[in-house]
Amino acid sequence: MSSAPRPLPDLAVEIVGLNKVYGGSGKRKPKQALKDFSLEIPRGSFFGLLGPNGAGKSTMINIMAGLVNKSSGTVRIWNHDIDAEVRNARCAIGVVPQELNLDPFFTAREALEVQAGLYGVPKPERHTQEILEAVGLADKADAYARTLSGGMRRRLLVAKALVHAPPVVVLDEPTAGVDVQLRQQLWEYIRKLNRCGTTVVLTTHYLEEAEELCDRIAIINHGQLVACDTTHALLRQLDNKSVTLILSQPLTEIPEALQRFSPTLPQPTELHINYRPSSRAMMEILDAARGCGLPIVDIRTEEVDLEDIFLQLTRAPAPAERAAS
Ligand SMILES: Nc1ncnc2c1ncn2[C@@H]1O[C@H](COP(=O)(O)OP(=O)(O)OP(=O)(O)O)[C@@H](O)[C@H]1O
Ligand SMILES: [Mg+2]
Repeated sequence: MSSAPRPLPDLAVEIVGLNKVYGGSGKRKPKQALKDFSLEIPRGSFFGLLGPNGAGKSTMINIMAGLVNKSSGTVRIWNHDIDAEVRNARCAIGVVPQELNLDPFFTAREALEVQAGLYGVPKPERHTQEILEAVGLADKADAYARTLSGGMRRRLLVAKALVHAPPVVVLDEPTAGVDVQLRQQLWEYIRKLNRCGTTVVLTTHYLEEAEELCDRIAIINHGQLVACDTTHALLRQLDNKSVTLILSQPLTEIPEALQRFSPTLPQPTELHINYRPSSRAMMEILDAARGCGLPIVDIRTEEVDLEDIFLQLTRAPAPAERAAS
C-alpha cells in the first residue's frame, strides 16, 4: 500500500517565541542571547540573516541544527518539530557552522563519505565528487583536512552540509576567509541549488553579498528581530536618494529656482541634492536645473544600500539586561 506523498510545507523554517539563556558561572552573568524570537522562512527563499557581532545569529542557527539547546519556544524545520521529530528535522537541514570543526585525520573525500554514511545516504546516491568540484576541492580530495588552508577547510564544511541533499541549507558565514574567486564559485553553486528548490539561509557580514544574493532579509539585534522583509522592500524603506549634477563651469551661487531643493555645493562644479523619492521625482530636479540654464555635463546618483538600513536598525543600544528573577 503506497501512502500519498506529504505536501511540501509553505515554510521551510518556522520559529515561534524562541528564547535562549546561556547559563552564567562564577563571575559570568547569564546571557539572554535570544528573546522571544519568531521568524518564518518561506520554502524556496534565499534568506539572509544579518546582525552585528553577538546579535544571536549563530545561537539561532545552532538551535536549528540541534547543536545548542533552546530555553523555550518552538522550532519547526520542514514542518518537523526539532523536539518531537528530531530525526526528520535533522535530515531536513544541512548546517555549515561558523566554527571550524573538522576531523583532521580524514581526507576531504573521507570526510564527505563519513558524513553521508551518518545520514544513511546509500553509496549509489552519494555525489561526493560533484560536491568536491562545486566547492573547488576536487584536487584536494585525498588531502587530510589538517593540511588544508583555512579557506579550504571552510569550503569542506560547506561540502559536508550538502551530502544528504537537505531541502534547507543554512550557512553561518560560509565565505569568511574564502578568496574572491572561490567565493563566486561557491555562490554560483548555492544559487543553482536554490534555483532547483533548496531553501538557503545565510549569515554574512558582507552586506553587498546579502543584497545581491538574498530575496528576503531578517535583521537581528540584541537577540530580537528588528526587520524582516523582502530585500526590495527593505531597500525601499529608507526614503533617501541623492543626485549630484556635474557642471562644465563653476557656480558662484545657487540659483534661486533651485533653493527649494536645499542643494549644497561641495565643489564649485558639483551641485548636490538629497531628496525623498516618494515625494519628489528626480525629473523635477533636473527640469528645474535645466530651466535655469545650468551647464550640466554629467549626473551622479546614489541609492541607499543595505548598509544604510543595517546601520540605522542596529544602532540602538543594548536594552538593560533584565535582572535575573
Ligand atoms: N556558549 C556560550 N556561552 C555563553 N554565552 C554565549 C555562548 N555562545 C554565545 N554566547 C553569547 O550569546 C550572544 C549571541 O552570540 P552569537 O554567537 O549567537 O552571536 P552572532 O550573532 O552569531 O555573532 P557573530 O556575528 O559574532 O558571529 C553573545 O553575547 C555571545 O557572547
Ligand atoms: Mg555567529
